[in-house]
Parts: sequence; structure tokens; C-alpha cells
Amino acid sequence: MKITWGLAWLALIAASLPAARLHAETPSVAEDYVLHCSACHGRDGTGSPGLVPSLGEIAPLLGDPRGRVYLASVPGVAQAPLSDARIARLLNWVLDEYANTRVTPPYSAGEVAELRASPLRDPLAFRATLVLEDVPRGPTD
Ligand code: HEC
Repeated sequence: MKITWGLAWLALIAASLPAARLHAETPSVAEDYVLHCSACHGRDGTGSPGLVPSLGEIAPLLGDPRGRVYLASVPGVAQAPLSDARIARLLNWVLDEYANTRVTPPYSAGEVAELRASPLRDPLAFRATLVLEDVPRGPTD
């Protein structure tokens, strides 16, 4: 009897371990960021000077109407192995979490699908044509 209870406790503890949860369901948006973006942009979104841009500095790109297109079309975003809906969710979250801003209306799966259909051939050249502008920032809720 003692052994049976011991096993039951072990099973309960194992089921509550984070590792056991990892495969359970669709990752949260924060987990999607860690899995698909953080290797380059870092856990804190600051990137790597001269190599990978900081996600904390993307708000001014939205001063240009084409900035919205650019953010969803950079290769790291457009080519991530995620559904259109999860990319949209991730982009909206990144804007809020790291850049303290948002787009109106928020990115949708439909918009992401459309932008993915015509990828940027030269993201940096496209970025260079954007007119940066300080956009108002503030709490996004
Ligand atoms: C392999 C490295 C890598 C990965 C992974 C990656 N990125 Fe990037 N990201 C870059 C680089 C480098 C740039 C600069 C533009 C370019 O050359 O593609 C960039 C540009 C961006 C930009 C535009 C910022 C600017 O200032 O120009 C955004 C937004 C962005 N990435 C978001 C993401 C998100 C969200 C993910 C995860 C889905 C992601 N990236 C995954 C390397 C990466």
C-alpha cells in the first residue's frame, strides 16, 4: 500500500513539472518569442549592436506607413515556422512588450498571410527608405 501511494505522489509531482508541460499545448506567445526570436534578438529584445537590431527601437519605424509592412516582412518574422495567426499574435506582443507601442488595428492573420506572400528581397535596403519618426509611446493597455 505504501508503495502505491509513493508511486501516486511521484506521478503527481512529475505531472506538475514544467518539463512535462512543454509538450502539452500550443506555446504561449512569450514561449514563441523564446523559441523563434530570442536566439538573435535576445531574451530582453536588445539584439546585438551592429548585427541584430534592438526590438526596443522599432517604434519610430511605424512613423512611416510602410513600417508596418516592414516589421511583418523581415525574414526572421516572415519565415518563422509559425502559422499566420501566431505570427500576428507574436508581432503585436513584441510591439507591446519591447517597444511599448502598438499598431492600429493590430496585425491579423490575414494581413500576415498577405505580407508573407511577397517577401522582402533586401530588408535593409527597404528599411533605409523608411522615414523614421518618433511616435507617441505609452501604456498600451
Ligand atoms: C537568425 C536571427 C534572427 C531571428 C531568429 C529573428 N530575427 Fe528579427 N532580425 C534579425 C536581423 C539581422 C534583422 C535586421 C533586418 C535583416 O537583416 O533581416 C532583424 C529585424 C527584425 C525586425 C525589424 C527591426 C529593425 O529595426 O529593423 C523585427 C521587428 C524583428 N526582426 C522581429 C523578429 C521576431 C518577432 C522574430 C521571431 C519570430 C525574429 N525577428 C527572429 C535577426 C533575426
